Amino acid sequence: MVNLQLSTYELAKLSDVIIRARRIVVFTGAGVSAESGIPTFRDAQTGLWAKFKAEHLATANAFRQDPALVWGWYEWRRMLVMQAQPNAAHRSIAMLASYVPRLTVITQNVDDLHERAGSKDVIHLHGSLFKPRCFACARQHASGVDIPNQPDAGQRVEPPRCIHCNGRIRPSVVWFGEQLPAVEWNAAMAAVTRNACDVFISIGTSSVVYPAAELPFEARSNGAIVIQINLAPTESDMYAHYNLYGPAGEILPQLLNTAWGSQDF
Ligand code: OAD
Repeated sequence: MVNLQLSTYELAKLSDVIIRARRIVVFTGAGVSAESGIPTFRDAQTGLWAKFKAEHLATANAFRQDPALVWGWYEWRRMLVMQAQPNAAHRSIAMLASYVPRLTVITQNVDDLHERAGSKDVIHLHGSLFKPRCFACARQHASGVDIPNQPDAGQRVEPPRCIHCNGRIRPSVVWFGEQLPAVEWNAAMAAVTRNACDVFISIGTSSVVYPAAELPFEARSNGAIVIQINLAPTESDMYAHYNLYGPAGEILPQLLNTAWGSQDF
C-alpha cells in the first residue's frame, strides 16, 4: 500500500472533500498511461522527447518534408497503444463516474485507454491516434483496426491517400504550432468555470504544454479544490491544494477507496 504522505487529519479532510463533491474533473497526461507501458514525453531516458526530436515528427512542416517518417512513427505509437491494456488508474477513473453526479474526463493523451477502461465522453485536447484525416482536405479517413505490423519506431511507412482528394492522410493529433480543437477546448474550459467544478484532479502531466496546462490554474481560480497525482513535483504544484507523489495506478485507487471506505477502486 502506498503512503499518501498525508497526516491522518489531512487525509480525513481530503476524503471529505472528495465524497462531498458533486462535480469532479479529472485531467490526465501521459503519466496515467505509463503503467500500461506507453512512454511519456518528458521523463528522462524513457520519454519520447528524450529519444526523438519533436520538430522532425510532431509538426506540420515535418509531415510536409517527410510524410513517411512521420506516419511511420505514429503508426508505431498506434501499435504500442493497441497492444497495451488500461491500468488501475484508468479503471478507477471510469469507476468514479458511478460515484459522483458529474464526472468530466479531460485528457491530453492520444491513446484510447480511458475509453477502453469504460470512461465515456472523454475530452481529447490533443486529438487521437485513431481518427486519421486528410492533410489537404481534412476529411476523416477510415482508421485501420489492425495492429500495424511495424516493430521499429524509425521505419518509414507511406501514409494512405484520401479517397476524396488524393491528399496524404495524417494522424489526427495536435502538432506543435497547431490550435487545439475548438469544441474540445471550449468543453474543457466550461468544465472548470465557476460553479462547474468542485474538485479537479490532475494526474500524470508535467503541466508544461499550454493551453492545456492552464486548466489546473483556471479550476483553482474558479473555486475548485485541486489535487495533483504525479511521480514528482511539476509546474502545477503551486496551484494544487494537495500534491500526492507516486504512481497513479496505486495512489488513485487508494485515495478513492479511502474516501468512500470501499475496495471498489
Ligand atoms: P509529459 O511526458 O510531459 O509528463 C508526464 C508526467 O507524468 C511527468 O510529470 C511524470 O513525472 C509523470 N508520470 C510518469 N509516470 C507516472 C505514473 N506512473 N504515475 C503518475 N505520474 C507519472 O506528458 P504530458 O504532460 O502528457 O502533446 O505532455 C503534454 C503534451 O506534451 C502531450 O500531450 C504531448 C506532448 O508534447 C502533443 O503531442 C501535442
